[in-house]
Amino acid sequence: ACVEVFDELSSTSDHALANMESFRNRMPALFVARQQTKGRGRGSRSWFAGDGALTFSALLSKADIPIEPIIWPRISLIAGVAMCQTLETYAAPDLLKVKWPNDVYLAGRKVCGILVEKRELTDPVLCLGVGVNVNNSLEHAPQEVQQRAIALTDVTHQQHFLPEILLEFLVRFRQLCTTNAVSVEPLLEYWRDHCLLTGRQVETVQGGQQIIGECHGIDANGALLVQTSSGQREIMSGEIVRW
Ligand code: BTN
Repeated sequence: ACVEVFDELSSTSDHALANMESFRNRMPALFVARQQTKGRGRGSRSWFAGDGALTFSALLSKADIPIEPIIWPRISLIAGVAMCQTLETYAAPDLLKVKWPNDVYLAGRKVCGILVEKRELTDPVLCLGVGVNVNNSLEHAPQEVQQRAIALTDVTHQQHFLPEILLEFLVRFRQLCTTNAVSVEPLLEYWRDHCLLTGRQVETVQGGQQIIGECHGIDANGALLVQTSSGQREIMSGEIVRW
């Protein structure tokens, strides 16, 4: 195992992936940056986070994730749930929600984004990148940012110790992977209770086709269920463009 902490890095995930080969025998490898200059989000978006945010990536091999590679798509959901549960320690649990596939929302706004990328060495390797707005208050950010995003401190009005949050997340992530190897039920149950989108009209695009309907939560494979006028659709991957 190895941990590297940087004052500044372009992106913890870029660093992890670019040097993956040299960490082959040192996984799980964890990279933490106090500041990222070119943080990446899902799709082709960027991820901005000011000083006081928690940003890290973990390189994980098959040996580090005690579930079969066939259910690795579930890792996305597991990571979102692990961070949601972690933040429940600090903010009122009813303020925290998960948004499919793996964002965490606090008081209706995004507090955490997760980016899971898969590569192959001889075996598959996962790069799990997590960004959480913690002490980087967004109260003075531009209006359009404030409408979409929030930091933990904006709700708790406290300064939080980043390593504690990181450690708690890692422990929960590992625990959830282990319980998931046995049964997906506890994960689904937590998801059902905390799903931001259930009961809402959602809009997504699949292969250029627009899908609009009411969200009915997720199925056992982690697909988002959307009830459209022509029947129920299972959304396996993609982005919710409106809700
Ligand atoms: C998203 O919501 O679009 C995902 C955001 C993921 C951001 C994290 S911050 C640490 C890691 N390094 C990156 O460049 N991105 C991820």
